[in-house]
Amino acid sequence: MSVPATPPPADPADRELLLGVIGAGRIGANHAELLARHVPGVRLAAVGDVSLKAAEELAARLGAPVATADPHEVIGRPEIDGVIITAPAREHTALVVAAAEAGRHVFVEKPMAVTLADADRAIRAAERAGTVLQVGFNRRFSPGFAAAGAAIDRGEIGTPHLMRSLTRDPGPFTADPARIPPWTIFLETLIHDFDTLCRLNPTAAPVRVHAVADALIRPDARPSGHLDTAVVTISFDNGAIATAEASFSALYGYDVRAEVFGSRGMVTMGDGRSTDMTLHGADGIRIDTSRRDTDLMRPAYLAELTAFADAVRTGSPAPVGGRDARTALSIALAAVRSVQEGRPVEITEVDG
Ligand SMILES: NC(=O)c1ccc[n+]([C@@H]2O[C@H](COP(=O)([O-])OP(=O)(O)OC[C@H]3O[C@@H](n4cnc5c(N)ncnc54)[C@H](O)[C@@H]3O)[C@@H](O)[C@H]2O)c1
Repeated sequence: MSVPATPPPADPADRELLLGVIGAGRIGANHAELLARHVPGVRLAAVGDVSLKAAEELAARLGAPVATADPHEVIGRPEIDGVIITAPAREHTALVVAAAEAGRHVFVEKPMAVTLADADRAIRAAERAGTVLQVGFNRRFSPGFAAAGAAIDRGEIGTPHLMRSLTRDPGPFTADPARIPPWTIFLETLIHDFDTLCRLNPTAAPVRVHAVADALIRPDARPSGHLDTAVVTISFDNGAIATAEASFSALYGYDVRAEVFGSRGMVTMGDGRSTDMTLHGADGIRIDTSRRDTDLMRPAYLAELTAFADAVRTGSPAPVGGRDARTALSIALAAVRSVQEGRPVEITEVDG
């Protein structure tokens, strides 16, 4: 007589994760689609947005069972393991703190906060709760950037001496400058470059920041403080000197690149190509570029969300955590002050 085999006990690490998305706007819709269709072992269980219409439309499109205008309902639902916070930057801290206090793991888009005091509140809440806190610095997960980071970790270019990182958003710039929060170019755009530079100079800390910025794309918006073009130099405590630059309008497409020149060599990453095709034709040579960040960075977004799910499942720390985000924010805040006061600013002046 055959005895039915007893299945081995289920490993909790293999359990499907139920995640909610808070903020059903541009990047929230992107992340929700990746979670619902592409991240292994994850289910999109709820969508929250203060605009019920936005929440309902996204939930219906992706088959999420819950749509609500109350983000705290997503956080409070007992079946939810974690939340992806993609609301506007100024809403992040309150949502991160509420989610951590409810025991939910958190992936929050950059910037994690817009003040260092708020960043500290968010970090403390997650540490007290023992929950994962990951911040959306997707560029670290872009294959070329990840390979460059690994090469630097192996010492292949020696000590970084000169570094550069740039972000040129795809143009033409059509947004209404009046609807863009002040200092977005530093707090929301260049913050990617600040995190990249810190990641690529892993044993050093930033000490001094000098920023110059202007409104070259929309000079008419200059009087209201809207800045669309900027260059920032950052000095690190190992001597490395870095520049970061941004523009809101690259007419040839989204362009994200970086370079580190060190004592033993150089590494470059990113070239703005969306495919590796080069077309040689009667009119010359053509490559493909991306008209949207969500196209060029799609593999990076998928990799960062998969890494978040893995951290939650295995209980390991997030690969990009609150303290990394705090460092990038301190550079952004020093850049803001540098433009306001027209002088270099020590990190200690903004992070007393
Ligand atoms: N990592 C990246 O590449 C990347 C790209 C784009 C945006 N972002 C970041 O993502 C965040 C959102 O940007 P976006 O472009 O998607 O903005 P968006 O304006 O398109 O969407 C924000 C959504 O959040 C909703 N919302 C507002 N307050 C809310 C609240 N308290 N609770 C729940 N929902 C709320 C709005 O109704 C809107 O639908 C920003 O911090 C931005 O910097 C990151």
